[in-house]
Amino acid sequence: MIPFIDLQAQRKRLGQPLEDAILKVVRSGAYIMGPEIAEFERQLAAFGQAPHALSCGSGTEALVLPLMAWGIGPGDAVFCPSFTFAATAEAMPLVGASPVFVDIDPDTYNLDPESLQAAIEAVKREGKLTPRAVIAVDLFGGPADYPAIARVCQKHGLKLISDSAQGFGCTLDGKHPIHWADVATTSFFPAKPLGCYGDGGAVLSKDERFHDLLVSLRVHGQAVKSDIEGKTFEHDPKYLNVRIGMNSRMDTIQAAVLIEKLKIFEDEIAARNRVADRYAEGLAGFVKTPTVLDGGVSVWAQYTIEVPDSAKGGRDALGPYLREQGVPTAVYYPIPIHKQGVYSVYPVAPGGLPVTEAKAGQVISLPMHPYLTEDDQDRITAAIRAFVKANS
Ligand SMILES: Cc1ncc(COP(=O)(O)O)c(C=O)c1O
Repeated sequence: MIPFIDLQAQRKRLGQPLEDAILKVVRSGAYIMGPEIAEFERQLAAFGQAPHALSCGSGTEALVLPLMAWGIGPGDAVFCPSFTFAATAEAMPLVGASPVFVDIDPDTYNLDPESLQAAIEAVKREGKLTPRAVIAVDLFGGPADYPAIARVCQKHGLKLISDSAQGFGCTLDGKHPIHWADVATTSFFPAKPLGCYGDGGAVLSKDERFHDLLVSLRVHGQAVKSDIEGKTFEHDPKYLNVRIGMNSRMDTIQAAVLIEKLKIFEDEIAARNRVADRYAEGLAGFVKTPTVLDGGVSVWAQYTIEVPDSAKGGRDALGPYLREQGVPTAVYYPIPIHKQGVYSVYPVAPGGLPVTEAKAGQVISLPMHPYLTEDDQDRITAAIRAFVKANS
């Protein structure tokens, strides 16, 4: 079976320095907030063109932390797509707020600015919830339409979060999502384009005081620089907890792994783009291949196609057909979030989410990673072409 994602090929490339970096942390004993954490945060901020980066426990907590920092909670609305991983929407109920689901663009699968505008206006008209923020997702690695989404956010005075868990490293006209967003978050889940060897996440931000607040929230609301400036204390202010926070520290070992992985990330993004270009060539005219916004560069967390309606059995027949030929596939995501039991109580944009619901029944993702060989890729594209020819 061709691997869907080949993390072992990457591990072999990284070789001894990666293992040495892990062993160094093991031997140092600085398992929590060791020096690799600050070093990685510095490098990550530089890579993501952000003034500040905060590492944290996961991509989910990376979404919760800014919502907490802005005091978003009960009675507040945060707008997000429904065609995404559950964590995007889960962040809102975790702080007591309500997600409001917005439809997507049929080509990029990312937030549709017109549906967003309509959803905000509907929530304002209804008057039950207060619009506070928008979470745009860089689904499958491609940038959302940030210029248009940021315009809508500015018009309505809303904060903008870029959930770049799948898209960290993607750009639009050479700029990372933080150029438009107040905050960009990511996940270092191992299968992500920039993944570690466990759980981890990060919040990139622009404002020093805001970053400081995130530092506090990450470790139980501990007093930080801005809390203690100009004050004197009888006891070590380390144990002064001035707000309700949580424990969302990333392990030092994960930072050590990520420092090594960041060295080859740019090169891996280029390799992913070469794989994507070859897929587009090999599949042109047979299936709908992915669209990246003009001026955009995707990091290709997934390579997701749509099987034409004319092909008998559609994507539900293509998956088993490819599996028989040693080609794994995956469906991200078969059930939109607003259709899932616990999330079905939350509002959706006026007119519902027809594009989201249609795409959930059509998309299928192919093996995608920087180490996919041309031979394997040719096998995959030949099998898909044969399926479409035989079933049309
Ligand atoms: C779009 C999106 N947002 C958030 C997350 C949550 O990240 P984590 O699994 O690190 O909590 C993920 C990944 O799992 C994701 O794909």
